[in-house]
Amino acid sequence: MTISVEEKPELVELLHRRIEEAGGIDFAEFMEHCLYHPEYGYYTTPRTRIGKEGDFFTSSSVHSMFGRLISRQLVQMWQLLGEGDFTIAEQGAGEGHLCLDILDALAEEAPEFYQRLKYRIVEISPDHRSGQNTKLKRHVDAGRVEWCTIDQLQGMEGCYLSNELVDAFPVHLVDKNNGELKEIFVVNSEKGFVEDVRPLENKAISDYFELVEHGLLEGNRGEVNLQALSWMKSVARVLKRGFVLTIDYGYPAKELYAPFRRNGTLLCYHKHQSNENPYQRVGCQDITAHIDFTALQKVGEQNGLDSLYLGDQCNFLLGVGFLEALMELQMRTSDPQEAQAIRMTLKNLIMPEGGMGESFKVLVQGKDVGQPDLLCARKISDIRLPPGAF
Ligand SMILES: C[S@@+](CC[C@H](N)C(=O)[O-])C[C@H]1O[C@@H](n2cnc3c(N)ncnc32)[C@H](O)[C@@H]1O
Repeated sequence: MTISVEEKPELVELLHRRIEEAGGIDFAEFMEHCLYHPEYGYYTTPRTRIGKEGDFFTSSSVHSMFGRLISRQLVQMWQLLGEGDFTIAEQGAGEGHLCLDILDALAEEAPEFYQRLKYRIVEISPDHRSGQNTKLKRHVDAGRVEWCTIDQLQGMEGCYLSNELVDAFPVHLVDKNNGELKEIFVVNSEKGFVEDVRPLENKAISDYFELVEHGLLEGNRGEVNLQALSWMKSVARVLKRGFVLTIDYGYPAKELYAPFRRNGTLLCYHKHQSNENPYQRVGCQDITAHIDFTALQKVGEQNGLDSLYLGDQCNFLLGVGFLEALMELQMRTSDPQEAQAIRMTLKNLIMPEGGMGESFKVLVQGKDVGQPDLLCARKISDIRLPPGAF
């Protein structure tokens, strides 16, 4: 019995033709087609990607508390900028969970801020854009939400936000052999797509390793996310004054390219199963790689963004009020089973192992804002729990 694996034959055919014409394509181009081909890409065509019925969870899909807590940091940013008009730009908003939870929380807890706020979504996927529109109807009708391109944000003052955007950018694959960096290309064979390891010719990749001051160890493979660099430059260019808040899984370069990570971090997700084969389920599975926070910080600094905070998601959430919010939520329910269920769900957001607390990081950069004491950097010893919490 043969097991049929879900894939898009039109996309496979198209890729074979493109590879034939070009004599092989780099992995970043292959990944770009798989995820974002306008007609057949994983993100561009209708599919349930995020949540229980989809292929993966994101923090914002786990519980509304994630967005509610981020809204507290946004309130402080608004105060730091003088409580005037403020734009929150969110790029890669997926199903719109984060936007909805932030706007619901602000409408309830910070109505003055809500009134001064423009929420602008930059979203590549027509399928996600239409889902977001439906989900956010209340806030769209209230005149708060619109969709735009990055360039239309030129001159914005506020906060440029993303959660699991950068890990979805196409990456180049490289490995080091006999002391030399090589780049992985994708070519056709009788068995389908196969890899061809070629001498490195793309200077942007060698420049990248110089920028982050870390290289690959002999025999290791790694990913290079060049799109992350151009994205960071665009964000720095459009932001006149304010903050960039980037949440994603990844590490500083030293850890990302650590000797023990022999095969890099590229992973595919399909119905909550991960695998390391991007050449199967073409157009029907997510492909991601951990991001390099050192690269974002360095390019940011070269383009006028100061690094204000880099920490694990766990510490970020504790700083902005996770414990207090959890206690309040638990105190509102008298059913011990429900309280237990809340704890178990929220645990995923902060657990280091098997959860999202440690591999997920939060980077805050600032332009023309000095070095403020951010709420997220609050020390655990300064956290006051609500009366009756214990
Ligand atoms: C992994 S999902 C993250 C979803 C969401 N932020 C969340 O918290 O659930 C990646 C999102 O980024 C979008 N995306 C990827 N590349 C993009 C780009 N260059 N510009 C705008 N959106 C992009 C995808 O369509 C998708 O909405």
